[in-house]
Amino acid sequence: MDKNTEFLPINGTDYVEFYVGNAKQAAHYYQSAFGFQPLAYAGLETGLTDRTSYVLRQGKITFVLTAGMNPDSPVTKHQCKHGDGVKVIALWVDDARAAYEETTKRGAEGVEEPTVKKDENGEVVTASIKTYGETIHVFVERKNYNGVFLPGFVKWEPDYKPENTGLLYVDHIVGNVNWGEMDKVADFYRTVMGFEQLISFDDKDISTEYTALKSKVMANRNMRIKFPINEPAKGLKKSQIEEFLDFYIGPGPQHVAMATDDIVATIAAHRARGVDFLDVPDTYYDDVTKRVGTIDEDIETLKKYKILIDRDDEGYLLQLFTKPVQDRPTFFFEIIQRKGAKSFGKGNFKALFESIEREQANRGTL
Ligand code: FE2
Repeated sequence: MDKNTEFLPINGTDYVEFYVGNAKQAAHYYQSAFGFQPLAYAGLETGLTDRTSYVLRQGKITFVLTAGMNPDSPVTKHQCKHGDGVKVIALWVDDARAAYEETTKRGAEGVEEPTVKKDENGEVVTASIKTYGETIHVFVERKNYNGVFLPGFVKWEPDYKPENTGLLYVDHIVGNVNWGEMDKVADFYRTVMGFEQLISFDDKDISTEYTALKSKVMANRNMRIKFPINEPAKGLKKSQIEEFLDFYIGPGPQHVAMATDDIVATIAAHRARGVDFLDVPDTYYDDVTKRVGTIDEDIETLKKYKILIDRDDEGYLLQLFTKPVQDRPTFFFEIIQRKGAKSFGKGNFKALFESIEREQANRGTL
């Protein structure tokens, strides 16, 4: 599509902000387990009274971990209702005022009007709108800023700095929405934000009975922002989306997929640091070559680290999902390495389902 007609140009994901119960401890987890590097801090020492934030970065991925400091803080209330989870998906734009104007004029509900924040390192313009559930998009215009993160934050430099794990950038962020709301949310991204539906291999794959979810992938024009939107469906088991909605108390971001260019090394590092991943039965690998064809990696190595493989018309991808990273069975991460494939690994739902059935058959419990 013509770039000139694009009303909401986006350069990429700016940051993802989690509202958590204890930001200090969460920051340690993201350093230790996921290899994020300390970047910035804001709290009592910087003049904030109702919240504390730690900012961490790895590659182009920036996470903000924020906790409320009193029972009246909106951060505390959000965390109390939803548990730890993603509140903000911030988008990096060249013109935050235009982003706000163009989206609100098309029906977006504003949260914060364009606001200029300044310090000795320049100025940042931010504005925000609502999306699904209580999640918001913040538009961040930082072309006139060269500070460490945003005005109001100071550099955070602890002595403790575990090595990174090879994570490079946000590949996609999935949202879970209520029964029957996928189309409405997809329309929001189409109409209000100028996104288009990404027609991929996943749509043709008739595996709904195994996945118990329906999904549409919405992407911006330059494809740097990809938001698959899931709603629950009737399947062979209770939908994992329904479970999310029950525990998150409504719609919210389900997972952030982070890209690596060496998934074996990245998964090995995360496993060694105590990240819990989805269990993959050995039987998954029995017929994997038949399903995905020839790949560069050694199947035994992938089996050792339980890395999943899927193929589409354009290539293949390697991926693995963590278990939920907080007490509620809600938000988790995906680690992904793309080798040509532009889809999201839907074939793995059926393959995993069948491999679990084979395990049950082996045990005589099917
Ligand atoms: Fe994903």
